[in-house]
Amino acid sequence: MTVDGEPQSVLWQDGCIVAVDQVALPHHERRIRITRVDQLIATVSRLAIRGAPSLAAAGALGVLLSAHSRRTPFDAAGIRADAGRLAAARPTAVNLRWAVDRMLAVLDGGYPALEREADAILGEIVTANAALASATADFVCAATARHRLRVLTHCNTGWLATLRIGTALGAVLRLHERGRLERVYCTETRPLLQGARLTCWELDRAEVPHALLVDSAAAAVMARGAIDCVIVGADRIAANRDTANKVGTLALAIAARHHGIPFVVAAPTSTIDEATPSGAGIPIEHRYAEEVTHFGLELTAPRRTEVENPAFDVTPGELVSAVITEHGVYRPGG
Ligand code: MRU
Repeated sequence: MTVDGEPQSVLWQDGCIVAVDQVALPHHERRIRITRVDQLIATVSRLAIRGAPSLAAAGALGVLLSAHSRRTPFDAAGIRADAGRLAAARPTAVNLRWAVDRMLAVLDGGYPALEREADAILGEIVTANAALASATADFVCAATARHRLRVLTHCNTGWLATLRIGTALGAVLRLHERGRLERVYCTETRPLLQGARLTCWELDRAEVPHALLVDSAAAAVMARGAIDCVIVGADRIAANRDTANKVGTLALAIAARHHGIPFVVAAPTSTIDEATPSGAGIPIEHRYAEEVTHFGLELTAPRRTEVENPAFDVTPGELVSAVITEHGVYRPGG
């Protein structure tokens, strides 16, 4: 699925949302056509649309979809109710609520105002990604002595997760284009394998040299001196730079600090939640036990085993070397 010659994860087409089915990858390259808000909520909940900026796009287009079906007569209360349910579908990624709130702020202008706002939000997401990917590549080049960098990343932060280009993975692509990338190490990202299934799929298509690691191998690879920097995305950054991202990020940040490796967060300002003073206030989504007890359809643990399955963790700001947005390095209060 491409727009202006570039791959795009979610778009508006003839009164419907069309999205790449991220659950089907890497085996099947399928699109989903979404015609109802309930269908969108189910799609977002099962992670067929996922990643904070792609969720923002889904939030904006979801409110538009609701308004499209409630146009005559214009049912503002119904649209607000749909918007509330949609915003709650993934509680950690603040970008979803950010986009929904922006749409609701122009609701009084009716359907044309919502159409304009959705268009503006999607455009801003793409512009921000382009700027922050380049700024992050500049930062890590300046922060590391080697010419060709060995980067470690976690989860999926490419165009699938971010609408277009990518955030952390966008920076990796910029390094590759500049001839400054030796290789990118991708963690598998248990339990749903966003790293193995999605990041490796994107890198393979873009012909970027990469290697896949089981999550628990990352510290050992750092210890043998094979990583120059870690670059990850974020789902919500508190005002003090505490950063919620895919579970496993905290362990990478601790290991990076131990080994003296820069740990960089690349995210748009729509991921920064100034209203939340610290990570303690970030809601963490807990997901189904079956994601952990099964590998695909195969049961891999005793049936009665209890499970904890937090989808995200919070890395304290003091372990983050820099948060890079489309405006450059984020400094709390400044
Ligand atoms: O549960 P997911 O797959 O939606 O989690 C995604 C992540 O944690 C990404 O790292 C984050 O959204 C940043 S995407 C640029």
